[in-house]
Amino acid sequence: SNNKSDSRGALIVLEGLDRCGKTSQCSRLLSYLEELGHSVESWRFPDRNTGVGQMISSYLTQKSQLDDHAIHLLFSANRWEKRSLMESKLRSNTTLIVDRYSFSGVAFSSAKGLDLDWCKAPEAGLLAPDLVVYLDISPEKAAERGGYGGERYEQLEFQKKVALSYQMLCDDTWKVMIF
Ligand code: TMP
Repeated sequence: SNNKSDSRGALIVLEGLDRCGKTSQCSRLLSYLEELGHSVESWRFPDRNTGVGQMISSYLTQKSQLDDHAIHLLFSANRWEKRSLMESKLRSNTTLIVDRYSFSGVAFSSAKGLDLDWCKAPEAGLLAPDLVVYLDISPEKAAERGGYGGERYEQLEFQKKVALSYQMLCDDTWKVMIF
């Protein structure tokens, strides 16, 4: 087609609570789209391989403490440092399936009590997803799935708050998969 936007990859974002099954749904979607002949890559945030990502990882594994605002901005910076690569992938017709994106940033930090608009502000200007898939599982059911791995946010009471934050962020453009 002559329409340039037709040859751009899609930005597909999967969101949900910890242990909602995002990782396996991402890989299922990846193989499905590959079989259809699409060029597709699987990404995730946080990307723990960068310098910023290592700070995030050390925070999540309780090896360091950070102010709630500071870690929020690091999660956001971790998306910003990948923005231009994401953009060039999409431009070259590669579809990206992304395990967590800005909505995780806003949902988890606002669940701590940070102001919603303050949480959203650093996300403005990042690439907008073409599709958001929300894996809807109850916090109780997620907690039962082989237990949590022990990272900072993997606690039932906190995940209940995150679920409420996601409910607030969810709009009717999101595709909701119920588990
Ligand atoms: P992961 O288990 O998918 O690697 O995510 C690590 C944790 O970080 C998970 O509890 C969700 C949380 N998180 C945020 O708090 N803010 C963010 O921006 C992102 C991407 C994840």
